Amino acid sequence: METTLSKLNIEKAKSSRINQVDFDNLTFGSVFTDHMMVCDYRDGAWETPSIMPYQGLTLEPSARVFHYGQAVFEGMKAYKDDDGKLWLFRPDENFRRINTSCARLAMPEFPEDYFFDSLRALLQLDKEWVKPGYGNSLYVRPFVIASQPSVMASPAEEYKFIIILSPAQSYYGGEVRVKIAEKYSRAADGGFGYAKAAGNYAGQFYPTQLAMQEGYQQVVWTDSNTHEYIEEAGTMNVFVRIGDTLLTGPTNDKILDGVTRKSVIELAKDQGISVEVRPIKVSELVEASKNNTLKEMFGSGTAAVINPILGFGYKGERYELPQLDNSYAGRFKKQLMDIQYNKSEDKFGWRYAVD
Ligand code: COI
Repeated sequence: METTLSKLNIEKAKSSRINQVDFDNLTFGSVFTDHMMVCDYRDGAWETPSIMPYQGLTLEPSARVFHYGQAVFEGMKAYKDDDGKLWLFRPDENFRRINTSCARLAMPEFPEDYFFDSLRALLQLDKEWVKPGYGNSLYVRPFVIASQPSVMASPAEEYKFIIILSPAQSYYGGEVRVKIAEKYSRAADGGFGYAKAAGNYAGQFYPTQLAMQEGYQQVVWTDSNTHEYIEEAGTMNVFVRIGDTLLTGPTNDKILDGVTRKSVIELAKDQGISVEVRPIKVSELVEASKNNTLKEMFGSGTAAVINPILGFGYKGERYELPQLDNSYAGRFKKQLMDIQYNKSEDKFGWRYAVD
């Protein structure tokens, strides 16, 4: 790829913390590698990105991110194959989306070469932190925050684009049963649900806590106007299988354009599975469950890849889904992971070699 990035500042950590980490008992997102990337935006331009030892940030308490939530992020994973080679999965999609999110939050877009050159250099430096083996990965968290000290409620003029890396194991969310939202929503028409904005996630915590008190693990969000249509499942996109047809809602200004979501749709279509991308009514799920045609529900996202949903609650009733031997969820998860870990042919060109 062409690059206009003339330099990258690199300061290596004096020693590595890797020997202090128990890679067999990782809690998702709680351990970070030796290095991080930080790039500052000042005077209308992104400065030279710096890779430096992972460390705390110094921000004034008045930094706008603390007051107005001007913050967006991404989630990606790096994988190591059996030959020790590092791969990313469709990182161009994450790059495109972080800039879409930035635009919606009135933040400056980040240059493509800054993103890929600094990400590659960072991953190469912390390569030892990516453990081989199915399920092991390095969760890559790029994020952008408004760092300008000022509590004026308007877009900042200073930002930080940061990338941190966290070793992750196979994401097992345990048994997931969901409450279908009757009162709360994740996003509204004309809002910023399609952006990976920090506030979209903070707003989910309270309704999810309430659902947990009722014995559910996640919430399936419904539209804010009528609560008749399903939108997302927890922090993931949601799929439903009725008969042998795979359904998911269309992306719009409320639904995140998930990379795993679009990959599942492509895989399914390629295998001749009937796919319907259209608004899905809660009443359809209830009906299909009652007449035994609701075969599967699952969430899709970077962290869990595919997370099967075993049942749902709606208007005080609980519905259980059948346990299938040959589920679409299991099939797509395996096919995606085989591509991610360089175990199968990559006919869609989704793998990206880091080194
Ligand atoms: C994802 O799986 O795509 C996520 O965004 C999960 C993250 C919020 C932890």
